[in-house]
Amino acid sequence: MVDLRNRDFLKLLDFTPKEINHLVKVAMTLKKQKRNNESHRYLKGKQVALIFEKDSTRTRCAFEVGAKDLGMNVTYLGPTGSQLGKKETIADTARVLAKMYDGIEYRGFEQARVEALAKYADVPVWNGLTNEFHPTQMLADIMTVKEEFGKLKGIKLVFLGDARNNVGNSLMVVSAKMGMHFVCCAPKELFPDKELIKECEEIASKTGATLTFESDPMKATKDADVLYTDVWVSMGEPMEIFEKRIKLLKKYQVNKKILDNASKNVIFLHCLPSFHNIDTSIGKEIYEKFGIKEMEVTDEVFESSHSRVFEEAENRLHTIKAVMLETMKP
Ligand code: CP
Ligand code: NVA
Repeated sequence: MVDLRNRDFLKLLDFTPKEINHLVKVAMTLKKQKRNNESHRYLKGKQVALIFEKDSTRTRCAFEVGAKDLGMNVTYLGPTGSQLGKKETIADTARVLAKMYDGIEYRGFEQARVEALAKYADVPVWNGLTNEFHPTQMLADIMTVKEEFGKLKGIKLVFLGDARNNVGNSLMVVSAKMGMHFVCCAPKELFPDKELIKECEEIASKTGATLTFESDPMKATKDADVLYTDVWVSMGEPMEIFEKRIKLLKKYQVNKKILDNASKNVIFLHCLPSFHNIDTSIGKEIYEKFGIKEMEVTDEVFESSHSRVFEEAENRLHTIKAVMLETMKP
């Protein structure tokens, strides 16, 4: 029996493989219910607060729609407009919000901030992305892999790009927990933090997972089942860093050559948003400055029949609902 009532959801290191599997299973049921138009207002009348110190499309919408599907009411607190951070500490905000809400989502900067929020709020707190981790994203990602291959164990997932960001770190953790073959494909200076690698290696030794660190993209992606990438510059990092990252990560772009080197049934995943063309203001600015039209993934791969990025984005909704439901249910 898995019981996650009143638990915080801050990082996957805090959860067992059984608990993670359980959340994905609940998400799959919720997905069916939503598809069949079956009412699932299991948390009717409850209140959730969503704190976003950084921008968001998927995470915010998944929490809002998910909460409403479950019968709840939502308050959105954006990067401006509340007292948080300017006149009021995380600890004080946590204690105030916990008096009014039954659950709190937080997206922001240091992991320490969401951990502090959870320490002071006596209601479940969910991490909607920090500099270090993006745990709700991982549930959607492994759900998408499971839907595609029917299993997680033994799946070779290669992450190419800035592997010490929130998504790279979290993929290493979830792969270690779920017995997958994780390949971190990046220049050495962008490998994850050594301490985190050590922690994941210990987990992997118990689950049968393997962790490989490889700077040669052709070696790394050979026979991959899943190719995964993320933006080269994350939210909160300065625009000036683009030049250095483009130089460092150009050869890690997921393109046709990489796709052809992977397994013939390979799927392409990306947490999104993605720079695969110049139809955005930043994409255009980068093109004007550096002359590149595509960054971490080519438009060809992004739009190919191997791409599951929109299925993955949809699964954000179902998995986030599962997290709210399992931690909040009476
Ligand atoms: N993948 C993801 O977290 O997207 P948003 O930044 O749009 O929430
Ligand atoms: N690494 C990216 C993920 C966005 C969902 C960022 O932090 O901006």
